[in-house]
Amino acid sequence: MIVSPSVLSCDFGNIERDTKLLHNSQADWLHIDVMDGVFVPNISFGFPVLEAIRKHTNKTLDVHLMIANPDQYLEAFQKSGADYLTVHYEACVHLNRTIARIKELGMKAGVALNPHTPVSVLEEILPSLDLVLIMSVNPGFGGQSFIPSTISKVKKLKSLLSSTNANAIIEIDGGVNLITGKELADAGANALVAGSFVFNSANPSQTIAELKAL
Ligand code: DX5
Ligand code: ZN
Repeated sequence: MIVSPSVLSCDFGNIERDTKLLHNSQADWLHIDVMDGVFVPNISFGFPVLEAIRKHTNKTLDVHLMIANPDQYLEAFQKSGADYLTVHYEACVHLNRTIARIKELGMKAGVALNPHTPVSVLEEILPSLDLVLIMSVNPGFGGQSFIPSTISKVKKLKSLLSSTNANAIIEIDGGVNLITGKELADAGANALVAGSFVFNSANPSQTIAELKAL
């Protein structure tokens, strides 16, 4: 299981300390949530924060763009240190072009789906993707409850991947803990994002190790 703790739940007054904590843990990736106050009803952070995180770790930065019109910022995210760049299906009119550009810039390309968006919309583009991010909450905030229908969505995506001969990573984001994480692992998820569950725990490194073992 790939574990990608979400920096959104860290202590931003101690971002160097918390980045190093993740760097020294069993976390595979660091999940970076960028929100613009337009695509989602919240604003998080942008390039300077991403660059600050990049300075303190060489682990994979898994950047989740919850922004409208991502096309105009793809290069800036690459320059700021993104390794995986994930755009929302709902925010991209010309998704094929966006994905091609992300790859041309040398990053891995992901597409995120809101809870109401079926996996079937990805049928044509799936072979071009490195990652599909299934949102298990409505994006915009950490600490929300897991939407149970996500489990069947993971299973549907897994079968769509095999019928289209594609092998994108299946990543899940929102309300992940050891209970929902286990169900997701059993359903076929390859990567789990966890924010509040990691940073609100008494021992974040140990919590990451427990998720890693699912
Ligand atoms: C929500 C973000 C998530 C968030 C997850 O819009 O995309 O990555 O940080 O937080 P938890 O794990 O607390 O649900
Ligand atoms: Zn996210």
